[in-house]
Amino acid sequence: MTSDYSRRSIRRGALRRLKPDPVPEEIITQILDAAIRAPSAGNSQHWRFVVVRDPDMRRQLGLIYRKGSDIAKAIYQARGRPAHMTEEQYQRMMSSGAYLWEHMGNAPVLLVACLRDRPPPPREALPPEVQAIFDHELLYTDRIRGASIYPAVQNIILACRAFGLGTLITTNHIRCESEVKALLGIPDDVFTYALMPIGYPEGKFGPVKRRPVNEVAFANHWGTEWPG
Ligand SMILES: Cc1cc2nc3c(=O)[nH]c(=O)nc-3n(C[C@H](O)[C@H](O)[C@H](O)COP(=O)(O)O)c2cc1C
Repeated sequence: MTSDYSRRSIRRGALRRLKPDPVPEEIITQILDAAIRAPSAGNSQHWRFVVVRDPDMRRQLGLIYRKGSDIAKAIYQARGRPAHMTEEQYQRMMSSGAYLWEHMGNAPVLLVACLRDRPPPPREALPPEVQAIFDHELLYTDRIRGASIYPAVQNIILACRAFGLGTLITTNHIRCESEVKALLGIPDDVFTYALMPIGYPEGKFGPVKRRPVNEVAFANHWGTEWPG
């Protein structure tokens, strides 16, 4: 298999900022059609997508994202640079993130990926042996929740790439999620998992750099280096 690995977060700078040009509605529909081909637990398909194109709503969403990003900035500063990144790579990532704090609302489309809550059946409805481990089941439910929406988010990212559109997954708005829900009229039992700016990028998609496979994959046992 060959790939140019050119799916990358499109968010900043002279080369990769998003143009204000509108994205045709039928392309957005095809992107959503790619999203709903994703897997979800038990094929529940309890996802919902809010496509925001109204300029004033985008502006307001951008302000909420900005607020959430101020918190993210403090967290990132306290955490510091990951060991695998050079100072230059880290500063580039931080400055492209910072660009988006100010410009999220300018993207012609803001796509909000949501999931309706899907709690397990009531404890009484379950057989005694499962009732006995119900708290563990709740932890399990909690652990896998996002796994029913993030594959759809990745499909959106790849579909955008195929249409020559730029996007990225962002989550900083979740720190102020109640404001997002109020603005978009999202029901109480629905939660937002990603805010994705979509538009035509200026310039080209460069390849992404990653830690190599043999540093992050093991053969049979944790710690035994994968030979590839
Ligand atoms: C769960 C998750 C949350 C993210 N949230 C944000 C975000 O709120 N803002 C942002 O600018 N980028 C966000 N990103 C994008 C990452 O910063 C980005 O994928 C990473 O720096 C690698 O860059 P690349 O996608 O260009 O390879 C997020 C990525 C993931 C997977």
